[in-house]
Amino acid sequence: MNPHIYKNIQGWFNSGQRKLYEHQVRHCADKSHFVEVGAWKGRSSSYMSVEILNSNKTIKFDVVDTWLGSEESAHKKDLSIINNTLYEDFLENIEPVKSAINPIRTTSIEASKLYEDNSLDFVLIDASHKYIDVKEDIINWLPKVRKGGILAGDDFSWSGVRRALKELLPNKYQTAQEFFGAKHKMIWIHKK
Ligand SMILES: C[S@@+](CC[C@H](N)C(=O)[O-])C[C@H]1O[C@@H](n2cnc3c(N)ncnc32)[C@H](O)[C@@H]1O
Repeated sequence: MNPHIYKNIQGWFNSGQRKLYEHQVRHCADKSHFVEVGAWKGRSSSYMSVEILNSNKTIKFDVVDTWLGSEESAHKKDLSIINNTLYEDFLENIEPVKSAINPIRTTSIEASKLYEDNSLDFVLIDASHKYIDVKEDIINWLPKVRKGGILAGDDFSWSGVRRALKELLPNKYQTAQEFFGAKHKMIWIHKK
């Protein structure tokens, strides 16, 4: 079994996302296709990668990021952003588990155009948390998820995230807390 390495990687991966990643790997069919949008230094990506490697399933895992950070202050003052080494730091961090990760270095919207409609089993959005960006992400990624697949996202506590969800998926999402019956409030989940 491959040990998890995420605790050594700085980032914002939380318990709801962890639960969801475990759940998706456990319950998906062989040859599933997952996409994570927003990887930063690879904390959440490495977790998913270890889960995939330990599952003995064939799961394609694409990880989309500009690796340029965003307008958020925590990003702007991070040394990887200041020194312009975020992508190199990501690659170094995921090195032990890179065989299960396919990095795609572009914007969320451009990346979404790479996929056929109804082709993805699971998309997790954790890029910009601004209302307009989350809205664009949902509009562009939702058609790419197959019927019965999952579109999910982080940072439900952000007002822009909640506003975009209420407009685009009214009453069609749950928080991880509702989904798993546990205390994981930050993740929202939509089953298509
Ligand atoms: C909150 S961080 C992701 C945290 C990560 N999941 C973790 O485990 O720590 C958000 C990431 O989204 C990326 N990002 C922001 N806006 C983006 C966009 N429009 N397209 C692609 N990536 C974007 C940033 O570069 C940053 O790395």
